[in-house]
Amino acid sequence: MMQSPPLMNIQPILLHASSPPMLNKLKALAESVPSGAFVEVGVHNGNTAVGLYEVAIAQGRELYLYDTFSGMPYSGWDDHHQIGEMSDCSVQTVITRMPKAHVIEGVFPASAVPMPPIAFVHADADQYESTAGICRHFPPLMVPGGQILFDDYRCLRGCIRAVDEYFPGRVVLDDGRALVTFG
Ligand SMILES: C[S@@+](CC[C@H](N)C(=O)[O-])C[C@H]1O[C@@H](n2cnc3c(N)ncnc32)[C@H](O)[C@@H]1O
Repeated sequence: MMQSPPLMNIQPILLHASSPPMLNKLKALAESVPSGAFVEVGVHNGNTAVGLYEVAIAQGRELYLYDTFSGMPYSGWDDHHQIGEMSDCSVQTVITRMPKAHVIEGVFPASAVPMPPIAFVHADADQYESTAGICRHFPPLMVPGGQILFDDYRCLRGCIRAVDEYFPGRVVLDDGRALVTFG
């Protein structure tokens, strides 16, 4: 029988990832990484992606946005969401909001397209299997000094388990998000 990890590092969701303080910090982190593309996995209607888009346009970077646009593709034993939750979004909305971004519909990482070297990933896919896919896919693609920010480390057990398994050296920010920097 699998045991749940301790709940001590799970914080109540006080602020949404797209709330001004969280979004400003996301933008500040993205702004400061070396040259390279930006990626978000877990886009929904693009409320955090618009922050990355603003920085990407200002700095001349490519932005890749991945989502099923039909809700959660997986649900494991310690995941909060059921399969199909968060399907109240549309790929067309995201394309309209961010016309210069590469918007890719499908289950990541099977949906991954060829990308240039990557400097910043915003991982916001909630579930264990999706986060584990992010942890496996991006390391060989990251530029030195590139970063992955895991939003759900502050509140979702499946995400915490995946990040702790793949990146035990992750840094936990004061808002509970986890940050991994590549050498
Ligand atoms: C919390 S929402 C993203 C919220 C968005 N970043 C924002 O702040 O507005 C999580 C999204 O992850 C997507 N998702 C989860 N696992 C995925 C996977 N393996 N591939 C593609 N999309 C996935 C879901 O469809 C959902 O839209």
